[in-house]
Amino acid sequence: MWDFPLFPSQASTNAPRLDALMLFEVGVLIFFSLLIGVLVVGFGIRFRRGNAVDRSNPPTHSQSMEVVWIVIPMILSILMYAWSTQLFFDLYEAPADAAQVDVVGKQWMWYLQHPQGRSETNELHVPLGRPVKLNMTSQDVIHSFFIPAFRIKQDVLPGRYTSLWFQPSKVGVYDLFCTEYCGTNHSNMIGKVYVMEPADYEAWLSEKGVGPSQAEEGERLFVQHHCAGCHRGSQTVHAPKLEGVYGKPVPIQDGKDVRFVTADDRYIRDSILLPQGEVVAGYEPIMPSFKDQINEPDLLKIIAYIKSIANRETSQ
Ligand code: CUA
Repeated sequence: MWDFPLFPSQASTNAPRLDALMLFEVGVLIFFSLLIGVLVVGFGIRFRRGNAVDRSNPPTHSQSMEVVWIVIPMILSILMYAWSTQLFFDLYEAPADAAQVDVVGKQWMWYLQHPQGRSETNELHVPLGRPVKLNMTSQDVIHSFFIPAFRIKQDVLPGRYTSLWFQPSKVGVYDLFCTEYCGTNHSNMIGKVYVMEPADYEAWLSEKGVGPSQAEEGERLFVQHHCAGCHRGSQTVHAPKLEGVYGKPVPIQDGKDVRFVTADDRYIRDSILLPQGEVVAGYEPIMPSFKDQINEPDLLKIIAYIKSIANRETSQ
């Protein structure tokens, strides 16, 4: 049987759009390659040595021809630029209502954490027709997260969060690859993505019983690592409260000046691992670093907890 698909199946809403752009660009490429190739070969044969043709050196300048070969390629290039830029933004800008799944890459596996609490390795279960945002980081070296059927790929870097999003459009099982050489077993760093009917997905989430959510786990770690001791209204230690902080601008003491940074995942992560870096104005730099004490999945849980109290009033 002929089983050599040139294209992976189109299983996300953006996949057909990306393929359309690629086919258009390949079409333009083939058209001009053929045009130039045929002309080169044709003239080569026609004007070969010994062939009786007119060699009287006709005029070398044709304005209309010049206009044609400037204007047509320019229109095509601008079209391709605008089209791909639009698509690029759509591919990397997750919709606001996307459900977030956290991803940690490490030699040589993928760890995936759903907000409802269930986690999995080298498998990703997602519901059909709903946008999913992946928030990704690495515990060691650079990996790259690639789902060909969704036409998405993004490097996964240590010490930093990168993201991807997709909206599955077809139920099925699809390949998941690490696509950045990351060591001996790079080629084994693969997995499967299961796109399920929403009802099946809900059932899958609670298959192993309804455990604590990611944010609840984060709160447990928040207490376990003694964060709560200072950040929940200590009598002796002056530390900022974290209710209502996520997503808001935070004043940072920068020498004599105060600047503002947004309390996003990056800021919270850095505040836990490099607490001396960006100290909130009006507070002493007394927080110890938790570097090498909290692993990446747990950091993501603590961030999920701080995110979950974003709408809570400060208890002061
Ligand atoms: Cu991880 Cu290649």
